[in-house]
Amino acid sequence: MSAVRGEFSSRFGFIMAAAGSAVGLGNIWGFPTQTASNGGAAFLVAYLVLAFCLAYPALMAELTIGRHGQANAVTSLRKISNDGWQKHFAFVVGFGGIICAGLILSFYAIVAGWMISATLEPVATLAESQTASTWLSEQSLSRDLLFTAGFIILTVAIISKGVENGIEKWSKRLMPALLSILFALIIYVMMQDGAMTGLKAYLVPDFSSILDPELLVSALGQAFFSLSLGTSVMIIYGSYISKKENLVSLGAYVTLIDVFIAFVAGLLIIPAMYVAQAQGVEIFSATGELLSEDTLVFQVLPALFDGMGTIGLFVGFAFFALMSIAALTSSISMLEAPVSYAVERFSLNRLSATWLIGAIIAVVSFTIILNFGTLFGFVIALTTKFGQPLLGLMCCLFVGWIWYRNSLLTEIQQGCPEVANGIFWKIWPWYIKFICPIAIGLVFVSSLLG
Ligand code: PHE
Repeated sequence: MSAVRGEFSSRFGFIMAAAGSAVGLGNIWGFPTQTASNGGAAFLVAYLVLAFCLAYPALMAELTIGRHGQANAVTSLRKISNDGWQKHFAFVVGFGGIICAGLILSFYAIVAGWMISATLEPVATLAESQTASTWLSEQSLSRDLLFTAGFIILTVAIISKGVENGIEKWSKRLMPALLSILFALIIYVMMQDGAMTGLKAYLVPDFSSILDPELLVSALGQAFFSLSLGTSVMIIYGSYISKKENLVSLGAYVTLIDVFIAFVAGLLIIPAMYVAQAQGVEIFSATGELLSEDTLVFQVLPALFDGMGTIGLFVGFAFFALMSIAALTSSISMLEAPVSYAVERFSLNRLSATWLIGAIIAVVSFTIILNFGTLFGFVIALTTKFGQPLLGLMCCLFVGWIWYRNSLLTEIQQGCPEVANGIFWKIWPWYIKFICPIAIGLVFVSSLLG
């Protein structure tokens, strides 16, 4: 095991890094798309409830396991297990999470590559290069391979620098920039025709559909994906938190920021869909169904930016640059999960471990690109529908049933001595033991049957 482990140097640094992991394409692309195709405001309500009542407790389980273990996911889970089957189970869950993180990265990098090409497209248009602009705006093998590789190299470059100078430094710079541009765009969209209809669809719920199992499954899956759960990522980020910090409030901040940015992204994208529709772009069918989910962001927003004239080129550039950035602060966390394991388990140096794992992920990404029709949707479903909920559920089982209650309390009390008498400790252990596993299990089974 390496002698000196990295640690986040400040509270703000951790919050930015963990929120950076959480806030990504899932918030700005996934959440608005899911909301639009699952009944608008009803989905929003279900999402908010599930994010705070199930995903936050599960996030706390992962952060606590990590901070207690002060090690990669497998070792951290082993530290709270007794000998025998529990140790094997710890390996399965920790290693499963690492594989899940790697697989997510392999499709995430492809989508992030699309974001980078969408960032460069306005630049090509400004430079009046028609060929470049067409190449950048149309999906092709050459474009996808190049930008996916570029994105993975960027991720590798940051992770190879470690926790404080890599993850923390970049998250602190990139996250505030993302927020500012989001707000600027919302103000612009709200001033356009059609925006108010969109706002209504987003904010006024139709309560009759709120208990629809399909809606609940999608909302829980979205909440888990968005908080990066079930991938060992929050275990490893937890392991870089100092023992002096108050975990309960750190986890709450991360959840709040994540949910807030998803909400804000919805405020932008959903009204923007209606604005684009009013401008003649076909977003919804005659019966109100969303026409194309995957390409939503790539249709709606460029149409909106086009309508702004030349200034739209700059806005388009800024928006997609920030989408790429949001993707980057998430992808670095996905890569950190396998890298920290390789470094600590096989005593590899960080630089070679990062490049080696980056190369493996690039190979998987390229395989997906070359078999796009069959593999892209499959890997997304495998990781987000099965992997994340199941592994997240198992982390809850570890904390609820395997970890000794006293030792758990001692861990949480570090940095937060008053916790034993507070509301969190009255509710959370119970939640983690019964409510979370049952609820996640139910939602999971209904998604299998559905
Ligand atoms: N939470 C990230 C997002 O919303 C995605 C992610 C999933 C990051 C799993 C790390 C692990 O985009």
